[in-house]
Amino acid sequence: MPIAERDPPKGRRESYVLPKVPVPPLKQTLDMYLTSIKHLVKEEQYQKTKSIVEKFGEPGGTGELLQEKLLEKSINTHNWVYDYWLDDMYLNQRLALPVNSNPAMVFPKQDFRDHKDSLKFAAHLITGVLEYKKHIDTRALPVDFSRGQLAGTPLCMKQYYRLFNTYRLPGLKRDTLVIHETGSTEQEHIIVACKNQFFVMDLVVKEKPLREMDILSQLEKIVKMAENTEERQPPFGLLTSDGRTEWAQARDVLIKDSVNRESLAVIEKCLCVVCLDDPSGMEVGDTSRALLMLHGGGHEKMGANRWYDKPMQFVVGEDGVCGTVCEHSPFEGIVLVACTEYLMKFMTGSPSKIGRATSVSELPAPRRLLWKTTPHIQGLLKASAERLQRLVRDLDMDVHKFEVYGKEFIKKQKMSPDAYIQVSLQLAFYRCNGRLVSTYESASIRRFHEGRVDNIRSATPETLAFVKAMTDEKTSLSDSEKIKRLWDAINAQTNSTIAAITGMGIDNHLLGLREISQEIHMEMPEIFTDETYVASNQFILSTSQVPTTVEMFCCYGPVVPNGYGCCYNPQADHLLFSVTSFHGSTETSSAVFIKALDEGLVEMRDLCKTSNKPQSNMTVSILGHPQELHSTSDTCPGTW
Ligand code: COA
Repeated sequence: MPIAERDPPKGRRESYVLPKVPVPPLKQTLDMYLTSIKHLVKEEQYQKTKSIVEKFGEPGGTGELLQEKLLEKSINTHNWVYDYWLDDMYLNQRLALPVNSNPAMVFPKQDFRDHKDSLKFAAHLITGVLEYKKHIDTRALPVDFSRGQLAGTPLCMKQYYRLFNTYRLPGLKRDTLVIHETGSTEQEHIIVACKNQFFVMDLVVKEKPLREMDILSQLEKIVKMAENTEERQPPFGLLTSDGRTEWAQARDVLIKDSVNRESLAVIEKCLCVVCLDDPSGMEVGDTSRALLMLHGGGHEKMGANRWYDKPMQFVVGEDGVCGTVCEHSPFEGIVLVACTEYLMKFMTGSPSKIGRATSVSELPAPRRLLWKTTPHIQGLLKASAERLQRLVRDLDMDVHKFEVYGKEFIKKQKMSPDAYIQVSLQLAFYRCNGRLVSTYESASIRRFHEGRVDNIRSATPETLAFVKAMTDEKTSLSDSEKIKRLWDAINAQTNSTIAAITGMGIDNHLLGLREISQEIHMEMPEIFTDETYVASNQFILSTSQVPTTVEMFCCYGPVVPNGYGCCYNPQADHLLFSVTSFHGSTETSSAVFIKALDEGLVEMRDLCKTSNKPQSNMTVSILGHPQELHSTSDTCPGTW
């Protein structure tokens, strides 16, 4: 299928020279850092942090030295922050991938008439994946352009080239993101998981690529083989659901045996994993489908029918529960959306080529992957299963469709929908907890060469003033004061967004300064051991906009034990929220948060209706220094 829907205007397929991620000015970042935390910590703690930060930033001090080193690094590398960020965000993290790291995209519920119907769907999906992969291998994907704020800039496409050829290998201290050459012949197979068994399906047989009817016939063979209980292998996928160090230790044990080594090697090189799930027995609603994508329901359900290290893992459930669960380190949700929307459109737009397919095929049967176990390995599997079960029991998830209005209403108020939703999330949090906390909103920096994301710190002082106006000071303030505070909050949020997407965010910069101090073997500067810095990196509210143009939604878990994960999908007439938290925390409850969010969104609408007049102050000003938005780095000589 041509990718016409996403084609850019004629002539926009050429490559673009993208600028390098800039290194923001040191003083700007330090000032923004202090502003971002002042209202979140006690006065005494703030004064202590302020003096640490001032000392760090003084002329000739540690900050200037590290800044100089970062600037040097930015000259000598394509992207000074990429590796620091990848390690910090993903590869150094030791928590289990399901829930804690891997996001999921939940497809619309499918109405399969029977088991064969679900296999036809899977065969069609795999055909779509192969079509999409062709666009990747021939570098025929049209260049994406930014939308929304500062629309029209070409975006880095590199993440698309990591969708199918990557693998996150567990390590004892740090994982490795393994990248196979795009289009490599080693990668001509997929792995199909069925009843916790793993099968290799070659996609090219006797130099001929499989047709959709061949794929269906191979899937049918897999299902038959999986049903054979005599040949059944232990559920080795469970090990990938464990903490990264635990899985790395287990893998070290496994690879002592050549059978295990070979099975692992085949999985690690596959294009993607397709999980054929049995019916889960759960009632099929948005929330339960999201849960099944994130953790498979644990080892008693589909949790072992997965291989969590593989970045693209498609789930096709016999009960119509379908989607994808992804290892996040090679790409962002936005790229995942582009790929899965292509697949959805492929599935609905191009008829299945199965026709009256014969089920008899001369193709060699797919191979079942074999494992050698020992009592020690059995013990490891049991321990992984128990830990996954704990995660499953702990996850508190609520998928909610707010139907009172959508982003069109917000646009009519002349406000940025994203900023408005962020403010509403802060209001909900304040309602539930009586305070604001360090908040993460992912901001794409794909305008830059190999750009990934930076953070928009949404808990601004202006937003604190607004949420107080809607709660503690509700009865004492006039509507006009409240709407003024709403506009201040929206403008502050929009300005922070623009700063972050233009490479002036503070989180990547502080991370770079911290990491380069270690590279040059400096003692860790106090600014990074200070309790305020540590706390400000504990994102109790972790949020992300993942909009879709076809019916599906994204979800992910919280990033700290007492936090919320909140993914939202603004649509013209409604807003979809996937909220997660942990039952183990007494401070959180997804249902309570959703209720507060609902109420706040209605109150914000009512406030806008009574007294809104645009008070937009959209000059891009960061602490009153608009000129500092310009990059301090040059452009990158390469293309995307
Ligand atoms: N008045 C009227 N309309 C406005 C407006 C205003 N003041 N401000 C914005 N709008 C419009 C925009 O033009 C846009 O219109 P469109 O729907 O026709 O495109 C729409 O509202 C959305 O803009 P906005 O809500 O401001 O957000 P955005 O699209 O610029 O998104 C971010 C902001 C931060 C989400 C985005 O820049 C980003 O980084 N996205 C990636 C996030 C990510 O990586 N997620 C995945 C993580 S795994």
